[in-house]
Parts: sequence; structure tokens; C-alpha cells
Amino acid sequence: MKIIGTGRALPKHTVTNDMLSEILDTSDEWIVPRTGIHTRQVITDETLQELSCAAACQALSDSGLKPEEIDFIICSNVANNYITPAMSAFIQEATGCTCPFFDINGACAGFIDALDIADAFMQSGRAQNVLIVAAEEVTKFCNWEQRETSVLFGDGAGAAVVQKDDVPCYTVLTGDSHHKGCITYLRPMEKTPYEKDGMAIHQPMIMKGRDVFRMAVTTSPRDLRNVIAKAGMKPEDVTFFLVHQANKRIVDAIRENLNLPEEKFPTIIDHTGNTSSASIPLLIDEVARQGRFKKGDVLALSAFGAGFVTAAAILTWGK
Ligand code: UT7
Repeated sequence: MKIIGTGRALPKHTVTNDMLSEILDTSDEWIVPRTGIHTRQVITDETLQELSCAAACQALSDSGLKPEEIDFIICSNVANNYITPAMSAFIQEATGCTCPFFDINGACAGFIDALDIADAFMQSGRAQNVLIVAAEEVTKFCNWEQRETSVLFGDGAGAAVVQKDDVPCYTVLTGDSHHKGCITYLRPMEKTPYEKDGMAIHQPMIMKGRDVFRMAVTTSPRDLRNVIAKAGMKPEDVTFFLVHQANKRIVDAIRENLNLPEEKFPTIIDHTGNTSSASIPLLIDEVARQGRFKKGDVLALSAFGAGFVTAAAILTWGK
């Protein structure tokens, strides 16, 4: 499988660490060394639907394909205002595509899950081209009274068009529900006449940061080694490692574990914060726009997040 087009849309409002220190007991001096984040883009008067559609249209145009050549649209999203219809319904309308569409929630690993699904469609002969969009507005469900979580996240949408190739997309997906309490967020739904009182619990996001950190730096190098072996390659054969942008220290720890040079691990976390599943397609789009990819480059992707889930993939740059 190869990537033949990418796109992005970020909210226009930039929030600096100093701006956060005006509303929270935090500081640039605390945030930068622990996370590598300087600024993040936060939704104000945009909607996530608008951002998703803009990123999708850009990726489609970048791919050079016509809307009718897309066989499936998959959108990765943890939460947005609409419980239904799916975000991908808005994307189909905006892009002029006519194919089936659906959303998935794979937390921060959702973009790689979508690649895996797209590859299964391709291997079964049901798809040649798939449009994948990952769109997240994490700032709308993190706890703004809690400095431990709110300083980490940003919003945005990234998109990619992937095409069937001689070589499949190699993937490794894992799930470990014993660690489901690492990141949780509960929102109430409509109250029914039959529901017992007290069932509509609302609990803003809780994250056990240290546990997530430990899980991430252990699982990501393991997944990358496994997926590279599955593809019959060696780490040196990979041109770029595109790792979920949750924390610069996590990216550095993964790179050090694999003993690889810094230039193979591009990052955008300094100006996006953690955008959940949108982080990898946003990263790919930015590296592409810097002109750093060459046709045939091998890309290794790795992500981890709430669940606890992890995912890694190997595919090629096809433009
Ligand atoms: O997509 C996956 C999502 N999540 C992640 O990737 C998170 C992974 N984890 C991390 O990135 C790190 O664990 C954090 C950046 C969240 C936290 O870094 P840490 O070095 O593990 O700090 P900590 O949670 O152990 O907190 C150290 C201290 C505490 O104070 P005390 O108890 O030592 O007095 C915290 O209350 O830092 C305090 N603290 C803060 N201080 C200023 C926590 N957050 C902040 C803050 N500003 N924003």
C-alpha cells in the first residue's frame, strides 16, 4: 500500500504555554522540558466537521484522483458533537465522493487502524483507493481545571489517500484492556424514563500520565521491531519513523531504544501538541510539504493510546 496524497487543517487560534499559565498553575518552564510542546492550535469558532472536510479535500486534490475513484472513506475520531451521522458523512458530501463511509474510534491509534482496514479491503479486492481522515478536538473533552492534561492537547485534522500496491501494508495491532483506566472520559447520554437515578455519570478526562508514558516507551519499540520483522526488513531499511506525537520525550525514548538517528524521527509536537489520532497524518503531511519524502521511501508508523491500544504499520510513499 502506498500514500498518494495528504492534507491537513488546523484551527486558526494558537495557544502558547504562557497563555495557559494565565488560566492554570503551570509554566513554559514546566511544559517544554517535560513534553516538547511550545504551542498548540485550539478550536474556537471552527467546527471539527469543517476541519475534517478541508483536510480531506486537500488530500484528494493532492492525490490527483477524481472523487468517484475513491472506494471507501474511513474517519478516525474519538468524539465530536455529532453522535450521528458519522463524521465521514460530512466528508463524503464535501469531497463529492460517492463511496461508502464509516467512522472508527481507535483512540490515538485510529489512523493506523484505518490503514489496516483499508489494506484488508484492498487485499479482498473491494478497494483500490481509500481516503482516510483522522480528526480530533481533544481540547473539548480534556479537563480544563486540571493542568496535568489540558496543557498536552491540541486540535486538528489530517488526511491521506492510500492506494493498493504490489506490497501490502504490514501492521501489528494490540489491545490490553487491563490498562483501560490509563485514560478515561465518561459523558452522560439522554435520560430515559426507565433509567435509575444517578446513572448519568459525567467524568471529565482522567489520565494516568506516568502509566501512559511507561506503556508507550515499552510498547512502541516492541511493535516497531515486530512490524519491521513482519515486512522482512531491518530498522535501517526504514526511511522515516512517524510516531504518535504525544510527548517529545516519548519519541526520543523510542528512538534511543531502537538506536537510530534523530533525522529518521521527524516531529511536530512542538507546534501541535497531542492531537490524538490526527497526529500521524498531520506529521506525514508536514514532512511531505517540506519535500523530505522520495517516491518509494519506507515509512514505519507507531501509535498508542486509551484502551490500552497500540498499532504499528509499514507502508510506502508513492508520489
Ligand atoms: O496520546 C496519549 C496521551 N497521553 C500521553 O501521552 C501522556 C504521557 N505522559 C506524559 O507525557 C507525562 O507523564 C506528563 C507530561 C503527563 C507528566 O510528566 P511527569 O514528568 O510524569 O510529571 P508528573 O505527572 O509525575 O508530575 C510531576 C509534578 C507533580 O507535582 P508534585 O506532585 O511533584 O508536586 C504535578 O502536580 O508536576 C506537577 N504538574 C505540573 N506542574 C506544572 C503536572 N502537570 C503540571 C503542569 N504544570 N501542567
